Amino acid sequence: MEENQFIAMPRIGDKAPEFKAVTTQGNIHFPDDYRGNWVILFSHPADFTPVCTSEFITFASLEEKFASVNCKLVGLSVDGLYSHIAWLRTIKEKIEYKGMKEVEVKFPLIEDITMDVAKKYGMIQPGESNTKAVRAVFFIDPQGIIRAIIYYPLSLGRNFDELYRVIVALQTADLFGIATPADWQPGDDVIVPPAGSCGVAKDRMEGKEDMKCYDWFFCTKKLDKEEVMKKVQKK
Ligand code: BEZ
Repeated sequence: MEENQFIAMPRIGDKAPEFKAVTTQGNIHFPDDYRGNWVILFSHPADFTPVCTSEFITFASLEEKFASVNCKLVGLSVDGLYSHIAWLRTIKEKIEYKGMKEVEVKFPLIEDITMDVAKKYGMIQPGESNTKAVRAVFFIDPQGIIRAIIYYPLSLGRNFDELYRVIVALQTADLFGIATPADWQPGDDVIVPPAGSCGVAKDRMEGKEDMKCYDWFFCTKKLDKEEVMKKVQKK
């Protein structure tokens, strides 16, 4: 049996595992320091590598957009602090990617040379690499609960529009008591009621013109983009 095969990985609905770490923005105590905020905790395989560089430039450029929906960003790799600092300085001073240049990464990047945090979060996946974290993305809510997880392999750069969509969709589901269908974007119809309460929606349909039922288990209703964004951006 392979070593590491049965390391527990955090799951959706679990409390985000706690840790203290050194980062490029000082020490953090996670997730306590982020109570009241949504947070994306993400790992990348290594500093000074091209896919990771393209990701950091993109994420840093979008930091304010994520902040506008009450979401903070925290990165991690199994490199040391001085490597992180040198890499982020190189990004700012030398790299232009898709028109983004002189990009300053202001969110914390965790040093994890012991791999303690990466292992706690199932970011080391030996089938992919024993020595580098995969591209993991944990979406953690203001109560410190893991609400969604996405893993990508080393070779695949993430889609940041999708990460933003996930944060907005999770908050929309919480705020409006609905679920979001395939490829949902703010302004698209939403599913009512959330999956799991079959049969309730059609009963509630009487007199509600903005609701549409395809069958007893599949009802949607309109939800304006403005209404969604007003609530999501309020906090
Ligand atoms: C990259 O970010 O380019 C990368 C990192 C580790 C392995 C392969 C690619």
